[in-house]
Order: sequence, then C-alpha cells, then structure tokens
Amino acid sequence: MLKKAFSPQTKILFALIASGFFVICLITLLALNGLKYKYDTNLSSRAYKINFLQDVKNFYTKIVFLQKFENFSDEYQKMLTSWQHYKDFEEQDNALNTLEGIYQRLFLQDSIKEKESLDSLIIQWIATIDKNILQTPSLITQTKQAHNQNLLLHSFEMNSQIDTILQLQTRISFIQDMMTDSIYSTTLWFLCAFMALVVFGTLYFVALILRFIRNVNLNLQQIIQDQTQTLKQTNKNLQRTIDHEIEQSRKKDQIMYQQARLASMGEMIQNIAHQWRQPLNSLIILIQSFKIKYDSNNLSKEFVATQTADALRIAKNMSDTIENFRNFFHPNINKAKFSLSKSIEDSIGLIYPTLQQNNIQIYFDKKNDIEFFGYENAFSQIVLNLIKNSQDVFVESQIKEGLIELVLESIDSQVTLYIMDNGGGIKINDVNKIFEPYFTTKHKSVGTGIGLYMVKQIIEKQMNGSIEVKNQQWHSKTLDKNFYGAIFVIKFSLNSE
Ligand SMILES: Nc1ncnc2c1ncn2[C@@H]1O[C@H](COP(=O)(O)OP(=O)(O)OP(=O)(O)O)[C@@H](O)[C@H]1O
Ligand SMILES: [Mg+2]
Repeated sequence: MLKKAFSPQTKILFALIASGFFVICLITLLALNGLKYKYDTNLSSRAYKINFLQDVKNFYTKIVFLQKFENFSDEYQKMLTSWQHYKDFEEQDNALNTLEGIYQRLFLQDSIKEKESLDSLIIQWIATIDKNILQTPSLITQTKQAHNQNLLLHSFEMNSQIDTILQLQTRISFIQDMMTDSIYSTTLWFLCAFMALVVFGTLYFVALILRFIRNVNLNLQQIIQDQTQTLKQTNKNLQRTIDHEIEQSRKKDQIMYQQARLASMGEMIQNIAHQWRQPLNSLIILIQSFKIKYDSNNLSKEFVATQTADALRIAKNMSDTIENFRNFFHPNINKAKFSLSKSIEDSIGLIYPTLQQNNIQIYFDKKNDIEFFGYENAFSQIVLNLIKNSQDVFVESQIKEGLIELVLESIDSQVTLYIMDNGGGIKINDVNKIFEPYFTTKHKSVGTGIGLYMVKQIIEKQMNGSIEVKNQQWHSKTLDKNFYGAIFVIKFSLNSE
C-alpha cells in the first residue's frame, strides 16, 4: 500500500539521501585511510631520506675535521650504500595517490610546478654529487694526508652540495605538507557541505512524509465523514420506511378490528333476534288477547293490570338482553380485575340459545376460580370466537350431536385454557395457517377469515400469552368418552402485566 502511496519524487529523494549517506561514509573512510597513510609514510620517508643524506654528510664532515680513517674503504662503501639508498628510495604508491594526483593537477598547479622544478634541481645535484663522489677515494689515496687542501675543498663542496639537496628536500616536504593540507581542508569542506545537504534532504524528506501522512489522515477523515453522512441518510430513510410500514400495519389492523367489530355486531344482532323471537311472540299474543277480550266485552281492570305487568316484564327482559350484548361487545378502555371462569360462563350464556337451537352441547370444567387483571371483553371475544368456529364446523359437517368442552386450569401463576370439539379437526395440512389474516375455508357469506387472527393478536399482544392448535383425540371428563376434533390451547401468565 505504501509502495503505491509514495510519489516518484519522494522515491528519488529517498534514493538520493541513501546514496548521500553512502558517499559520506565512503569519503570519511577514504579520508581517514589517507590521513593514516600520510601519517605513516610522510614522516618515515622524510626521516629515511634525511638519515641517508646525513650519513653521507657525516662522512665528509669527518674528513673536514681531519679524522683519520683506519678502514677508509669500509666507511666509504657504507657512505656509498647510504647514498645509493637515498637515490633508490621511492615513496610507496597507493590508490589515494592517484586521487591526490588528480586533485593536485586540477587545483594545485603552482605547487606542482614548484615541486617539479625542485625535483629536477635535486636530480641535477644528484648527478653532480654522483660525479664528485667518485673522486673522493682517489683524492684520499693521492695525498695520503688528511689535511690536504684539495681534499678539504672537496669535503666542503660535498657538504654544501648535500646541504643544498637537504634544503631542497625540506622545501619539497613543505610543499607536500601544503598540498596535503589543501586536500584535507577541501575534503573537510566537501564533507561538511555533503552532510549539510543530506541533513537538509532528510529534513525535507521527513517534512514530505509528514505532509503525506497528514494528507492521508485528512482523506481518511473525509471518507469517514462521507460514510457517516451516507449512513445517517440511510438510517433516516430506513426510519422513514419503518414508520411508513408501522403506519400501514396500524391502518391494516384498524381495518381488521373494524371488520371484526362489524362481524361481532352481525352476530350480536343475530343473537338478539334469536333471543327476542320468543318474548316478541309472547308480546304479540298478549296484545292480541287485549283485542279478543275487548271484542268479547271481557276486558276487566284486573286483566289489563296483569297483562300490562306481564308485557312490561317481557319488554324489560328484551331491553336487558340488548343491554347485555351491548356491554359485551363494547370494548374495554381500562384494564380491570375479573374472574376468568365467570367471563367464560357469561360468554357461553350469551350464545347458549343459539347452541341449543343447533343441538350443540357445551361443558365448562373449571378446576378453580382464577382472577385476572386485563380486558374482560377482549377475553370473552376469544372464547366466543372459538365457540363460534366449533359451531360453524358442526353445521358445515352436519354433525348432529356437536360437543364443545372448555377446561380452565392454573398451575402456579400459569393459566391454560383448552377449547375442544368433536368437529373432526382442521381440514388443512398446515394447521398454523388458520391464524393468518383472511384465511378461511368457509363461503364468503359465512366467514371473513379474521376471527382467529384477532384471537391470536389479543392473546399475544394484550395478554402476553400464546395459542396453539392441534387435531387430536381427547377425553371428555364430563361424559367420560373419547372424541376427535380440534383442540385450541391458550396459555398465559397471571403475572404477565
Ligand atoms: N374448531 C375448528 N375445527 C375445524 N376447523 C376450524 C376450527 N376453527 C377454525 N377452523 C378453520 O380455521 C379457519 C379460520 O378460522 P377463522 O375463525 O380465522 O375464520 P373463519 O371462521 O373462517 O371466518 P370468521 O372471520 O367469520 O371467523 C376456518 O375457516 C376453519 O377452516
Ligand atoms: Mg371464525
């Protein structure tokens, strides 16, 4: 990733700094090496040369101071050897000398010229001494006297010639020192300049990297900001979609409640009509009896009083019936404590006449009375819906002796209500489908398919309970007989609220 991120300029700079460091190391190494070499060779070569010349000079000084040589030829040979050593002495060469040579040729031409002229002078003097040195033995043997004038002159001459060479040699050494100084000061400057360059390069490189990191950081921040913005927008959209869906579902539920209410009202009217049929007939007969009595002139005061009292009693019963149903189907607004068994009994009571008319037996087996805190009418809606469904099955399957049995039991605070019938069970494979909205196997005029959906909604949302259904054989404790049909099992907790 970094490879890609660095620009070509940065890479070049990096390479330059690396090579700069390398060059600094190399120059430092060469300079150190050169210094050591100069230290090792300059001093020793000068000392050697001066020593050899000094040997020659000593020889002639001895002659000057009239010293006798017992073994002259040995001394002379030694002196000749020293002289030869001086001439043969060559400075060692190394790689640095070549570099030095190039530098000298470029920047120290004057010094080189001076050195060259000094060198040629030395060569001339060496040639002169070479000639003169050979005369020394003959001069000594000729005279046999040390204080011979010619020999003295010859010694002085030789001494002064060697002194001249010594002076020239010293001058050359001086020039060489100067040149070495120049080389090392130049090298030092060069090194300093190079180091400054590398330091500035490194600083620039660091600044570049820092700027690069800052840019990357800024880019990242921008990306994060953009992503956060997109996420926020997506969240907003999602929230809007969820709100819309919730609203839709609420509307759908409202429609369903409305439909369920209408269906309940229809049932209520049917039940009222059924329960009114009898007292209406009685009222008609009662009214007719007035006409008959009047026509036969038998209308007594007592008759009117009893019949009116009867009529008023019947009318009150009829009014009570309406009131009962109205209360039952009116939705509870507030939760209240109510007896589950009484609520079931009241619900059965409401549709009992219709059940009787269809020859349907209903039994309610309550193990104990249970008090529940909730919406009573919602609970009776559940019971009524389930009983109504069993009744529909009996009619549809033409079952002559329909049987519905309800069992209410509670263990600790867990309540279970079983509603069983002998209608032969649910006629589809996936029995849980019956809880889906608008699922019905009945004709449009009979069922809408929202009864069990509403039942499930009430149980799960208002009572925090559950409802299950299965087709199964069951045993009626009341009749002590086995039956086959649908069993609805409703479970909820008394502490759910
Ligand atoms: N006790 C039962 N025995 C057999 N089938 C049943 C029983 N109760 C319900 N069903 C089946 O479940 C289906 C759905 O019942 P649900 O009460 O939801 O609708 P519905 O009775 O058809 O119409 P409505 O909206 O009028 O109640 C019914 O059509 C019926 O096929
Ligand atoms: Mg139904």
